Amino acid sequence: MNWINGLGRGWKALVAVACVLCLLVTPAVTVKHENFKTCDQSGFCRRNRAYADTALSNSKWQSPYTLDSSTVKFDKGILTGVVDKKITNTDQTVRLPLKVTFHESGTARVTIDEEKRQKGEIELRHDSKARKERYNEAEKWAIVGGTVVSTGAALNKDAEKGSTRVMYGPGSKFEAIIQHAPFGVQFKRDGETQIKLNDRGLMNMEHWRPKVDKPETEQKEGEEAVVAESDNIAEDESTWWDESFGGNTDSKPRGPEAVAMDIEFPAYQYVYGAASHAGPLALKETRGGDGKYSDPYRLYNSDVFEYEMDSPMTLYGAIPFMQAQKKDSAVGVFWLNAAETWIDITKSTSSANPLSLGIGGTTSTDTHWISESGLLDLFIFLGPTPQDVIGAYGELTGYTQLPQQFSIAHHQCRWNYVTDEDVKDVDRKFDKSKIPYDVIWLDIEYTDGKKYFTWDPMTFPDPINMQKQLDEHQRKLVAIIDPHIKNEGGYSVVDELKSKDLAIKNKDGNIYEGWCWPGSSHWIDCFNPKAREWWKTLFRYDKFKGTAKNMFIWNDMNEPSVFNGPETTAPKDLLHHGNWEHRDLHNINGMTFVNATYDAILSRDKDEDKHPIRPFVLTRSFYAGSQRLGAMWTGDNQAAWPHLEASIPMVLSMGISGFPFAGADVGGFFGNPSKELLARWYQAGAFYPFFRAHAHIDTRRREPYLAGEPYTQIISQALRLRYSLLPAWYTAFHEASTTGAPIVRPNYYVHPSDEKGFAIDDQLYLGSTGLLAKPVTKEGQESQDIYLADKEKYFDYFDFWQYEGPGTVSVAAPLDTIPLLMQGGNIIPRRERPRRSSGLMKYDPITLVVVLGNSGDAEGTLYLDDGESYEYQSGAYIHRRFKYSTSTSSLTSEDVSSPGKKTKEYLKLMEKVRVERIVVVNAPEGWSGKKEVEVAEEGGAKSGKSGKAELEWHGKVEGKAAWAVVRDPGVRVGEGWKIQF
Ligand code: NOJ
Repeated sequence: MNWINGLGRGWKALVAVACVLCLLVTPAVTVKHENFKTCDQSGFCRRNRAYADTALSNSKWQSPYTLDSSTVKFDKGILTGVVDKKITNTDQTVRLPLKVTFHESGTARVTIDEEKRQKGEIELRHDSKARKERYNEAEKWAIVGGTVVSTGAALNKDAEKGSTRVMYGPGSKFEAIIQHAPFGVQFKRDGETQIKLNDRGLMNMEHWRPKVDKPETEQKEGEEAVVAESDNIAEDESTWWDESFGGNTDSKPRGPEAVAMDIEFPAYQYVYGAASHAGPLALKETRGGDGKYSDPYRLYNSDVFEYEMDSPMTLYGAIPFMQAQKKDSAVGVFWLNAAETWIDITKSTSSANPLSLGIGGTTSTDTHWISESGLLDLFIFLGPTPQDVIGAYGELTGYTQLPQQFSIAHHQCRWNYVTDEDVKDVDRKFDKSKIPYDVIWLDIEYTDGKKYFTWDPMTFPDPINMQKQLDEHQRKLVAIIDPHIKNEGGYSVVDELKSKDLAIKNKDGNIYEGWCWPGSSHWIDCFNPKAREWWKTLFRYDKFKGTAKNMFIWNDMNEPSVFNGPETTAPKDLLHHGNWEHRDLHNINGMTFVNATYDAILSRDKDEDKHPIRPFVLTRSFYAGSQRLGAMWTGDNQAAWPHLEASIPMVLSMGISGFPFAGADVGGFFGNPSKELLARWYQAGAFYPFFRAHAHIDTRRREPYLAGEPYTQIISQALRLRYSLLPAWYTAFHEASTTGAPIVRPNYYVHPSDEKGFAIDDQLYLGSTGLLAKPVTKEGQESQDIYLADKEKYFDYFDFWQYEGPGTVSVAAPLDTIPLLMQGGNIIPRRERPRRSSGLMKYDPITLVVVLGNSGDAEGTLYLDDGESYEYQSGAYIHRRFKYSTSTSSLTSEDVSSPGKKTKEYLKLMEKVRVERIVVVNAPEGWSGKKEVEVAEEGGAKSGKSGKAELEWHGKVEGKAAWAVVRDPGVRVGEGWKIQF
């Protein structure tokens, strides 16, 4: 969303109600490339690519960095030393303290800093207020655990001279070989090299240097730079200091200070992650050529509205975590740096036999990471499974919070619902059309002149009453609060922000002023603990009047988006709390704001009563660790088929990047979707962990009940499917919140032995349920090819049509059908009573779908709690594992919880919640004559059900599997039981 677009929105809100002019499907628009830098336009990226080119084109190239052997020490799991680099033509040496930490979890960390210069040794520009050392606080925001130092890590005495070897990890199977000259590190698992650092010699830490004023030779944007010879390599000095782009000049008071490293994944052909980009899940090569990108993947949180498909361009959030996959082996790296970052990816195939022309050779992936400033700080994960890597990353940066149940149901948003009556009307219309939804959203127009924490008195005179109506059906409201604060005298929020000195400053140390929705604005600096404390007070019910307990928050524009800033964001030379430059921490900025909002919602309720509920915050900007705080969405997409298609790999990528609570705007933000596109988008959205319909202010209304038949019906079916599977979704969220596992999972994650499926990113597995969905994302498509990786039976979710893997199967997909299969061997929990909202399903009975595959055994889990509070932390939850065993022909429910002091009370509350139906898909032929099953609940008849239940058998028809249904076995969800078939 840009500045021009942003002007004069207020009146448009009113026009939107009766928008008759926007009845046409809007043509797709494209990103404004000229607003965003290419690598070549970003000085440090250009310098480091040039460094790489020089190094790689010279067969004699040797990295100039050396670990001084006399400094190496290893003590209690930590190796320290000093890496040196001589500066050519001087007697100076740059000294870079190295620390390699081996953690109990099996994760290793390599940190390289720059030794502080003595005062006066190097004079920085005297006018700079910015801190001089490298930014070292990223970990304060990103890391929450997994850093216990290993007691088992030990030096390997067999190390050759000039290297140091450390054995570590589970069973000491991991090894780090630190080579001294030139400096480099190799990581091995079971004796096999998995990751190499600086093997190609691209490590580069641009050291402090004084600014020597040279006679001005003016260089215009886009002109070739003057290249000078220094520091062992031809260096382009033209971008060392002040740098201009798009009419903005970055003063860069500290000069060049980039950090770069090459990271090789030998014999790994696939790499994933580095979210978020609009492209395939398996990352592409970036140095040009057919089907490859010519720019590196960029991580620099920006408001890239109308973003383009299949591009390495940056988007709103950055997670510098990458995984590599080869057959049966996964490894990963996490580059802990919050500055602008670029990642080049290239692959090379080697072959033992020179005549094989690369066929049958081994492909390796080389990556080159370049950040503008900060430490070189790197975590290494050696797997071997994708879950080992993602789990270890999750241990460090935190798992996704267990969200409130409502937030994983269906959300209805648009820019904007224009009055409180409008909201109430939409709410009633959903009910009238019997379409379930849980949350309605308010975009920026609800405020009084874009002043957050206020309501427009003309259009929202009675917000409390509005929230009351929503609450009648346990529905919620989410309202937007952005980080820019309107600069208008008499607005108490800005007055306090100024008087308490809590805003971001410009390079001179004065309050920074820029433009966003409200016009002239200031930005809260959430790096400042005092700002976060103050932010909390603004959400108190007595302060933000008109808000109730069922209102939650959407944080948008938190990259931050600054309409008149460079690349639509904040100038890099702004100053934050502690005098850190914005450049150092840009990618964390959005997360600090969400953190403050999260804490504010939490304390709002804690202050009110002793039964706090879990906050819900949606964020646009994110960094590693944001998953702890709420959900993200993929920003301003378009109502166009390619955007629907791209949403699936984007959401999958978030899942494997540790931030699984992700979704895309259903229907597309810009433009008006055709009805077919809208229907298909709801079907896909039903498989996004975060499922919200949203639309731009210029679009026409498109609530599902407006679509008309058959579309309304088709959309309702997709929504009903989502609601009936909520127990499976909630169980998947619980798993994510305890292990870091993705909620929707790509093929490679589920089948790491199946190389053929490593690039597949248009189909997804839901949690550990064995449900495999491949939503239709192409216009007019009526059948869908689904890839089955394993030798297992799969069944159509709706009619039990049987398929067999491995291979690709074709599934009929007319407009009213979502291609959805169930993998044999799983048990899937559902709730089938249609309700208006998820809150009303709390005590509904459960249906279990037992899907028998090749082995004849099946297993599945169910997690339930009150869906809103923290009582689950005291044991107020149910966690069961269901198992069907073919050898005993019985289905059992076993407890996998760890009881706590609230367990009993919760079980009592859930006493009446029963299993009302068991469906067995691919039921044995031998059951054809069976009429009943034996039911035994733990504790026998006294405490529960004991006796018989009716069984109904349905034989095979055409290609459909036989199935059976047990009606009303009456067993309690929270108790142990056995059903004997
Ligand atoms: C930009 C967001 O991406 C979009 O979802 C929102 O509707 C507008 N800002 C207005 O707040």
